[in-house]
Formats: sequence, structure tokens, C-alpha cells
Amino acid sequence: MSLKNDILYELLSADDYISGEMLAEKFNVSRTAVWKAIKNLSHEGYGIDAVRNRGYVLREDNDLISVQSIKSKITYDMDVLYYPIVDSTNNCCKRLLADGKEGVFLVTADEQSAGRGRQGKSFYSPPLTGIYFSLVVRPHASLQNAVTATTAASVAVCQAIENLSDKKPKIKWVNDVYLDGRKICGILTEAITNFEEGVVDSVIIGIGINIKTIDFPEDAGQAGSLNANIGRSALIAEITNRLMDIVGGDYKAFIDYYRSHSMVIGEKIKFIKNGKVTPATAVEIDEQGGLEVILENGEKTVLRSGEISIRKI
Ligand code: BTN
Repeated sequence: MSLKNDILYELLSADDYISGEMLAEKFNVSRTAVWKAIKNLSHEGYGIDAVRNRGYVLREDNDLISVQSIKSKITYDMDVLYYPIVDSTNNCCKRLLADGKEGVFLVTADEQSAGRGRQGKSFYSPPLTGIYFSLVVRPHASLQNAVTATTAASVAVCQAIENLSDKKPKIKWVNDVYLDGRKICGILTEAITNFEEGVVDSVIIGIGINIKTIDFPEDAGQAGSLNANIGRSALIAEITNRLMDIVGGDYKAFIDYYRSHSMVIGEKIKFIKNGKVTPATAVEIDEQGGLEVILENGEKTVLRSGEISIRKI
């Protein structure tokens, strides 16, 4: 963790002012370094009061997540669980499902120590500057419904952002959400299959959005932040409502919305097939959310999974 995050944790766990001297001593840094870290935190939007001879304290009007606030805004009946820190909210859901937890439920955390992305990548999940949550739904049906849930999640994220702010997010196939050329949201969907009945028992839809994160690790690629003034609990609840609407609702309206927000149609792309990087042009999103592409030899094919990147010309 960075000094900034270490200090944030101290402030979060303290019930009174903490002096700059104590923080400097604890983390073995100068008081100027402490002051700079506090300044960065304030710049990121944390309300911190600094009082001479007493030190620093987090103000009470900070945007903290609360179960009560999420539940009061969700229009569906479900359990909501909150933890200050977990390894990964998707892992947490898996453990709860293995312990026999039933019904639809949501798990959220202020921080993930081992947030997971697709294809074995990690997802940077620092405390308080983003939302990290997983929703467990029960499609009781084919794998196709599980695949739909993946695409549906990106639509729900865009709809929620548009409903709560003036930002205009876009979707990069298959379900990354971008704003101004930067990835602000990643989605990891995992299906739990009942082998005896041959159906998908539950689908874990894990969503991570960078809201005010500034410093990203090098491997985070083109990551950026939403930078909108939206309460974190309100955003989690709005995405959940929109996602539940789609999962139980009008498929055609959802796929039309997905197409209208796609940032890849008409673009030159590349994808990996049989271990080989293949250039192509993206032409359409089909009814199942597959990406129709034209290869350089004129052949048409439909991508159903995997990663693409947009080629710069
Ligand atoms: C990606 O971009 O590759 C997917 C990132 C998914 C991140 C979310 S954050 C909440 C949930 N818990 C995880 O460990 N991952 C997902």
C-alpha cells in the first residue's frame, strides 16, 4: 500500500484526531511526507479536518458505503453484505454459495486485497476511491443466459452512470466501460453450474468502477476514473436496479442500447485466435451479443468470447 492509503486507513480506524507526528513515526516518514499524503487525499475528495496541536480527522460527511443506504435505494428484495476489506467480492460470493447461501444477494467492500480481472489479471481496488461489488443472480437456465448477464452488466453500468450524472460512457466489447478513451469499469462474470441438472445455478456478476482513483499501477493499462459527483452507495444501487430490470426484462431494448453505446463498431481491431493475433474490422453486434468482424481476407466471423483491442491507425 502507498503512504496515502496507509494514512487513510489510520484515519478510518481512528475515533479521534491523529497527530502528524504520530503518523510520521508510525510509517517512518517525515511530517512533510504525511502532510503531502493528506493533501493528496483531500484533493481526491476526502473531507479531512486539520487542527493545530491536534492533528487530522476524517469528517463525517465522507462518501462511505452503507448497507442501509444501498438497501433503501434497491427496488428488488435481496440481502446486501458490506465488508471494509475482502480479497475479492467474487470470491466472497463463491464462499457464501458454497456455504449454502440462497436467493439473490449483493456483496460489496471498500477495498479488495486481491481483486480479480478477466484472464487471470488483477483488478486494482484501493480503499474508498471506487466501488467493488458482486451481485449473485439465479438464471436457472442455459449458459446463454449467463453470457447475456455479462453483456447486460455493461449496459446497466452505462445506464446508471447516465441516470446519475452527465457523463457519456461507451462499451468496448465485450463488457469494458470506457469514458474519454480510458477504461473506468471492469466486469468479471462467473457461472456456478449444477452438473447433475446441467444448468447454471447462479451467476456472480462482479463490477468494479474507478470513481476517483488517481494513481494506477503500471499493469492497469488505459485505466481512468469516472470523476463524477455520485454517492457510492447510490451508484451501486442504481446499477443493481438496472441490471435486475434487464435480467428479467426486455432483451431487445437492452441489445439495442448495447449497440448504440458500442465504441468498436466500424473500428479496426485485433483479437487473438489460436494463439495468433488477427487483425479485422468490427461490423456489428449480433442478437446474442457476439461481435461480427471481417477479416483482412474478406471472410466474416463472429467472436463469442475473448479480448479485442482497437488498432490505432
Ligand atoms: C476486468 O476488467 O478484467 C474485470 C474486472 C472486474 C473487477 C470486479 S471488482 C468486483 C469483483 N471482484 C473481483 O475480484 N473482480 C470483480
